[in-house]
This record gives sequence, structure tokens and C-alpha cells, in this order.
Amino acid sequence: MTYVPPSRRSDRDPQFRFDERFTHNHQQQHHNHGHYIPHNGGWVRANEQPQAMNAHFDPNHFHQAFVAKSQQQVRAASNPYTREEKPEDEIFREHIPGIDFNKYESISVTITPNDIAPVDSFETMNLVGAVAENVRRCRYTKPTPVQRYSIPVVMAGRDLMACAQTGSGKTAAYLLPAVNFMIQSGVTATPSRTAVPTALVLAPTRELSIQIYEEGRKFTFRTGLRCVVVYGGADPRHQISELTRGCNLLVATPGRLWDMYSRGYVKFAYIRFLILDEADRMLDMGFEPQIRNIVQSQESDMPQTGHRLTLMYSATFPREIQQLAWEFLSRHYFLQVGRVGSTTESISQEVRWVDDGQKKQALVDLLATFGNGLVLVFVEKKRDADYLERALRANRIACTSIHGDRVQREREEALQLFKSGACTVLVATDVASRGLDIPNVCAVVQFDLPSNIEDYVHRIGRTGRAGKTGKAIAFFNDKNRNIVDDLVPLLRETHQEIPQWLGEMVMRRAPPQHSRGPYRGQRGGFGRGGFGFNSRGGFGRGAFQPQAPMPATQGFRAYPQR
Ligand SMILES: Nc1ncnc2c1ncn2[C@@H]1O[C@H](COP(=O)(O)OP(=O)(O)OP(=O)(O)O)[C@@H](O)[C@H]1O
Ligand SMILES: [Mg+2]
Repeated sequence: MTYVPPSRRSDRDPQFRFDERFTHNHQQQHHNHGHYIPHNGGWVRANEQPQAMNAHFDPNHFHQAFVAKSQQQVRAASNPYTREEKPEDEIFREHIPGIDFNKYESISVTITPNDIAPVDSFETMNLVGAVAENVRRCRYTKPTPVQRYSIPVVMAGRDLMACAQTGSGKTAAYLLPAVNFMIQSGVTATPSRTAVPTALVLAPTRELSIQIYEEGRKFTFRTGLRCVVVYGGADPRHQISELTRGCNLLVATPGRLWDMYSRGYVKFAYIRFLILDEADRMLDMGFEPQIRNIVQSQESDMPQTGHRLTLMYSATFPREIQQLAWEFLSRHYFLQVGRVGSTTESISQEVRWVDDGQKKQALVDLLATFGNGLVLVFVEKKRDADYLERALRANRIACTSIHGDRVQREREEALQLFKSGACTVLVATDVASRGLDIPNVCAVVQFDLPSNIEDYVHRIGRTGRAGKTGKAIAFFNDKNRNIVDDLVPLLRETHQEIPQWLGEMVMRRAPPQHSRGPYRGQRGGFGRGGFGFNSRGGFGRGAFQPQAPMPATQGFRAYPQR
């Protein structure tokens, strides 16, 4: 069978039956289609290339190989997609960075290996004109620390695991180099029965996927590239129709994506950027099987490490995710902005003792102090979200709720009502704790505290974003004693006031068995190996702090061998 590039294939093409496209795994395809890749300064067939996990990766060759391959995909230069784009003012909503934006400058940054020079401005990042123009349209004047360091790493063609505080611009940090690369490589949107994206972003929740997609549309604006989102709970027919109109940047939740792949609507073989945003949350939500299916199963045609760039971003990195990173990433950089798992000082935190019976009234009184400011209230259980929404409405508070038992349309509506200010209070479960960037949330109230510190960090991170200030108030009572060992050091570190009763509670608690001080978690984990992570939060165990022994640049391996 002669090779037919994806862009030329159609279901009517007798040379290429639909089913055949999805029965081969990636290596078989390479073999059948005579795909060449760079190796030791020359070109070899992909199936002759040793597929070592840590095969040396040369970004220049990577680029050349991709250009050669992508040129087969590129259709005529005129692209109908640019004509169907929404108007500029709809895509680029008003963006006003907070007054504390310069505070980011003082945050300590650690990058390992330490051989990357940060870029101080978007102008010196060598972004192509269309991308630089979109950055200007976003009104970003200077890059945040995670952008200053991670963009050059990615542009140099290296894998990356980046940990930076909530609201510090991680989304643009991975989208910008991916979009830039696609434009440099001459990729454009090509309608086809099967989508062949170049960049794939996996995110844990539907709302976060939609948000990343909206960010993606900003950076791909007037570039001829097409951004598509697929997520569960919504009508797949619309998503399929979007995919078939051409897809260069795909944002997805793992379950729906695997479904789309299995049904032949997406192909991973041309992925060059695999990005996992909030990967720890994806594992928490039980997406590990789907992620493994997508990234490394026999059925998947995802290029192997060394043939794609893999990037992972979060504000917290518990142990499970370090394990996954070790498997998915190849000779990667580790970027740490501030301390792993810490939060930003732009959020003032307060912990109040409130017994369960008093919580509702305490919340009503508290909300009255915020006037028309947007307040996000976190509860533990879905039914409590419904109950609290009704109770607040009964108190004439404009309120809505979001949780996993509401249908997707209701979830999106609730978020829209909150963003627009029509409802000033959003009661939410952890479905809204990760990544959501809602401008002007003035406070986060934790009606129920979570049992682990990462959820606490991500929840409060819905305020105090992009240099703005915010307030976080937590209702604490006897049931929350399990979080004090992690909470108190976090409050202390970010210079927050610690109520006397809370400080005493820590002192009264017996030190954990393997504890070497207040910053050591109960479950030890990687912390004992000198890497300083506890098994849950990656928090406070001196992680990647100067005193923690770092692996040498030579033969760099960020994680202990399994
Ligand atoms: N260089 C920049 N200058 C000004 N604002 C920026 C810049 N980069 C990003 N932002 C804005 O900062 C806000 C937060 O960005 P983003 O959602 O990417 O944060 P994040 O680090 O992913 O947070 P989280 O950990 O909560 O997911 C967004 O509104 C974004 O538009
Ligand atoms: Mg984010």
C-alpha cells in the first residue's frame, strides 16, 4: 500500500480504509510508512532507531524532522479557519494584571540542570510575529518567572516538569512555545476525517479544559492554527465536528479523549507536545488508566519519549506524580518557582474556629462583609453544595453552585453566572479547585477544610492571581486536626497570623514517627531520600531547597530509580 499523508486521506479513498488507520500502533505505522527520523546527525527509519527511554534528544534535528513531516500535512496557504474566528474583542477580554505583579520578581527560582538562561522579556524570546502580536493583545507586558524559565527550556526542545504557584501564568508558559513551534513548522489547520494535532494538553476537569482552550484560542488567533477542546458530559457530535474541521492544538480531559481516539477521530502520531496540566489531580480523579492508555499503551500511536516533548505543570507535586513523571519524561528539566507546594503571599489567609452547627450563620455574616465582591465557597460533599446554595438563597444572597452531580450545561452556566457577577457567590466542591482563572475573586471561603494540603493550596489559589491580592478564610474545627501539621508551616512560611489555639494544637500533637522537624510530613516518602517531598503534598519538606542534595547535571535524573 502506498503511503498517503493524513491530510490527503479521505474515507472515500480506497487506498486507505478507515479501520486500518487505527489498527496499527505507532511503531508499526512508522515501519509501514517508511517514516524517517534524525539519528546521530543522519536520518534513519524510525523502526531502526533504538527506542531507549532516555535517548539523546537534539532539538535541531527534532525541528528539522518535524518540518519535513509537517510539510506533508500542510494544505494550501489560504486557510478558511481565520475567516471563522470570533472578533478580537471577544477572544481577548480585558486583562488587568494586579498591582502586586512585580512581587513575582522576588520569588526564588531553582532550575535543574542549572544551564538555562532565563529570558527577561517577551521581545527577546524569539517568538514569531503572530504569536508576539497575540501576547501583546493579551496585554502581557513581561513574563512571569515560570514563563521566563520554562519557555526557553521548551524552545530548546527539552522535557520539563514545572512547579509554580497558583495564578502565576503556567498556561501561557506551555501554550506559547507550542504555538510558536507549530507556526515555525508551517502547520495549519487541515480539515480531515481524523484530527492530527501537534500539541495535546490533558487537564483534569471539563471547566479547566474549556479555559485552557480559550487561552489556546488567544495564542492561535490569526495564525491559521486551530484549537479544539473535547471533554466529557457534552454532546460528542459537536466535538467530533470541530475535530474534523482541523485541529492543531487539542485540549482534552483524558476519558473523552481516549474515547475519541478509540473511535478513530483523533490520531496521536503527530503529537510533538504532550502537556499534562494538574497531573496530580488527574491521578486523584482516577484518570491514571486513561492517561497510561493515551501515553504508553500498545493501542496508542503516541510517539515515544525522545520523539515528543512532554511537559508537566502544577503548583503541587505529590509522590505519585513524580513516579509518573519519571516514566513519561526524558532527561527533563525540573523548574521550581518558590517552594514546591507553597502558595503565594498575595493571598492573606485566616483560620477561624467554627463548630459545624455555627458554620452556616458564620458564612452568611462573613459574606455580608464582602459586598458585591465575588466569593468562592468550598464544601466537601456535592449534596452539601446544593444544601448551602439553597440556604444562602434563602438569605437573599445571589448564589449558585458547581459540583459533579450537576449536568455539564448547569456547571457551565453556574460558572458563567459567577464570572459575570450575576451571582456573587459560587458554592463548589473540588471540581472548581484546580486551575480555574476567574478574574476578581476577592475571597475564598473554605466552609469545609480538605484533608490534604494540596487541595487547600489550590483552593485558595482561585484568588490572589496574576499579581492581584486576595483573602482566604478557612472554617476550622475538631474534624480538621489532620491538616494542622501541614497547614501551620504553610501559614508561617507565608507570614500569616496563626491563632494561638492553632499553634498550640501543633505543639500538643506528638511528632510524626519519621519527623525531622515541623516541615516533615507523616508519610515520609521521597523526603527521606533527600528529595524532600512527602508522599502527598510535595510540601514543606525542604524540597529542592539549597540544603537538599540535588543530582548533578551530568547524568541528570530527577527521581530515584524505581
Ligand atoms: N506574563 C503575564 N502578564 C500578565 N498576566 C499574565 C501573564 N501570564 C499569565 N497571566 C495571567 O495570569 C492569570 C493566571 O494564569 P494561569 O491560569 O496560567 O495561572 P496558573 O499558574 O496556571 O494557575 P493555577 O495553578 O491556578 O492553574 C491569567 O489570567 C493569565 O491571563
Ligand atoms: Mg493552571
